[in-house]
Amino acid sequence: MDLFDKLAPLADRLAAVGGGPVPFDTVIDRPSGPTEVIIDGRPTLMCGSNNYLGLSFHPDVPAAAHDALERDGAGTTGSRAANGTFARHRRLEDSFAELYGKRHAVVFTTGYQANLALISGLCAADDAVVIDSESHASIYDGAKLSGAQVFAFRHNSPADLARKLARLPEPRRALVVVEGLYSISGDVAPLPQIVEECRDAGAYLMVDEAHSFGAYGEHGLGCAEAQGVLDDVDFVVGTFSKTLAGVGGYSVSNHDALRLLHFSARPYVFTASGSPANIASVQAALDVMRRNPALRDRLWANVRHVRAGLLHLGFKIGPTESPIVPIEIGSAERTVAMWQALLHAGLYANIVLPPACRPDACLIRTSYSAALTAEQIDRSLALFEQVGRALSVIDAAA
Ligand SMILES: Cc1ncc(COP(=O)(O)O)c(C=O)c1O
Repeated sequence: MDLFDKLAPLADRLAAVGGGPVPFDTVIDRPSGPTEVIIDGRPTLMCGSNNYLGLSFHPDVPAAAHDALERDGAGTTGSRAANGTFARHRRLEDSFAELYGKRHAVVFTTGYQANLALISGLCAADDAVVIDSESHASIYDGAKLSGAQVFAFRHNSPADLARKLARLPEPRRALVVVEGLYSISGDVAPLPQIVEECRDAGAYLMVDEAHSFGAYGEHGLGCAEAQGVLDDVDFVVGTFSKTLAGVGGYSVSNHDALRLLHFSARPYVFTASGSPANIASVQAALDVMRRNPALRDRLWANVRHVRAGLLHLGFKIGPTESPIVPIEIGSAERTVAMWQALLHAGLYANIVLPPACRPDACLIRTSYSAALTAEQIDRSLALFEQVGRALSVIDAAA
């Protein structure tokens, strides 16, 4: 056996794609705005970003980055725990604490590291991490890094969560981790029921609002706010890389334990902090989001428009109304063909293949922005129709 043998199946799968664009290897020449990008020199409609409020090109956001770059230089050249905490990192933490009405907030270098830091910083051997089976890789990786025992419960099933918690000898040593909005299926967690099970058992609850921040709740704080249980969640985690159009992550909590992660969590301590330009643009994006609740209304109007259009055309889409709209295609071969044909026609969406799904349930994962115009959504529907009919994903005669 050779070290590289385990990569051979991957090489075989890439070879099977044949000619044409390779999934997971798209190069965007450059974005031409929040809703269109140039790929291979051609304008391409973006139906696969996580730019939910369209803030990447809001004038205040690049302007703040530009100003910080001039003032504070290109990078911090250090960890948050050493020379890499600038006043603007602390200011952003204060903004998140105030926004959520929580005592503590910590900013991390990426959303991935926020999950790693929270789970591995709070849990260790002899503790338990209890996660939804459809959790993001960063949650699985954080649980593994912690060295704690890991239990997965059936996706969005409070009853199965209750069964798993009932088997734990010391539920006070358990952290339950769920997402507000699931990144592939677009499903929303039933948080009041999950809170109830955690409270009954005495376990702690962490909610990852990576995809729900900005889109859900009266103030855009995510699904816990929207479902009225923000006070019952022990730790909220989120990312800057979606609604806030930057890079980084945050957590907020009333527990002093969060503050202590500044000194102990390895994914916080042993990596460089976010660059001044990035932190400044995130701060600006947060301010734009707070001042413009109408952006959220526009996002939901677009979601309703696109869902109605896709259903009318006969596509099978996920049941939950959310900014993430998965389109069920079937086999990997068919889904790759659909993805390539959409790209060729001038539309970018994401693709979901095994092991992220069952081999017969591959998806085109589309996601939508408040910045898309009604004309752009109609154009995307026309492209889905054209390609879907050509590949018989929808009835050719419909
Ligand atoms: C649910 C969830 N959590 C965490 C992350 C990681 O965030 P980031 O990409 O900002 O590191 C993602 C990214 O896609 C995600 O979907």
